[in-house]
Amino acid sequence: MKERSIHVRAWRREDLPRVEAVERAGFSDPWPTELFEQEMSNELARGLVAEQAQSSGVSLVVGFALWWVVCDEIHLLVLAVHPDARRHGVARALMAQLEEQAVVESAREILLEVRPSNLVAREFYRSLGFAEVGRRRRYYGDAEDALLLRRALSAEHGLEEE
Ligand SMILES: CC(C)(COP(=O)(O)OP(=O)(O)OC[C@H]1O[C@@H](n2cnc3c(N)ncnc32)[C@H](O)[C@@H]1OP(=O)(O)O)[C@@H](O)C(=O)NCCC(=O)NCCS
Repeated sequence: MKERSIHVRAWRREDLPRVEAVERAGFSDPWPTELFEQEMSNELARGLVAEQAQSSGVSLVVGFALWWVVCDEIHLLVLAVHPDARRHGVARALMAQLEEQAVVESAREILLEVRPSNLVAREFYRSLGFAEVGRRRRYYGDAEDALLLRRALSAEHGLEEE
């Protein structure tokens, strides 16, 4: 039941309005449209959306992930799920697909920053086996620090146990 009807696919330019709606609902300091547009034509950037069928039968984008591939590292820039669709495995489905793509691209690790105050996201990443490996002082616009999280990848098995 939990992950039924979630479909993850590469993002497309026409997804942008819905991606932005999810972003705005998820963050107090959402990215401006120009940044998303920039990333859509950045050759280092990869994006996925998760669609979920609504009771009307129409599929709606309810979550997305955006990351950079830098040499053998994946740097996760944004991951968000619309509040109405949370706690149904959407983010987990996005991360599973991201990891598959990362392994295909020979990446060895996933890195990301998260606010120390974002306890839900920290619990989410902890549940996927991410470990805290550093802190970036005054990283966010409001001067909150960022925690740096890391997860190793293995070419054979996807995520490694650490
Ligand atoms: C963090 C976020 C992406 C999680 O999305 P989601 O689709 O609700 O997460 P999932 O349903 O895939 O949850 C997977 C696991 O994460 C953990 N988790 C997710 N939400 C949680 C919550 N509110 N409280 C505690 N644990 C939670 C649980 O371990 C969960 O597994 P379970 O449901 O089997 O217990 C979502 O809450 C969100 O968009 N938050 C705002 C944006 C954000 O903070 N993004 C990350 C910034 S780095």
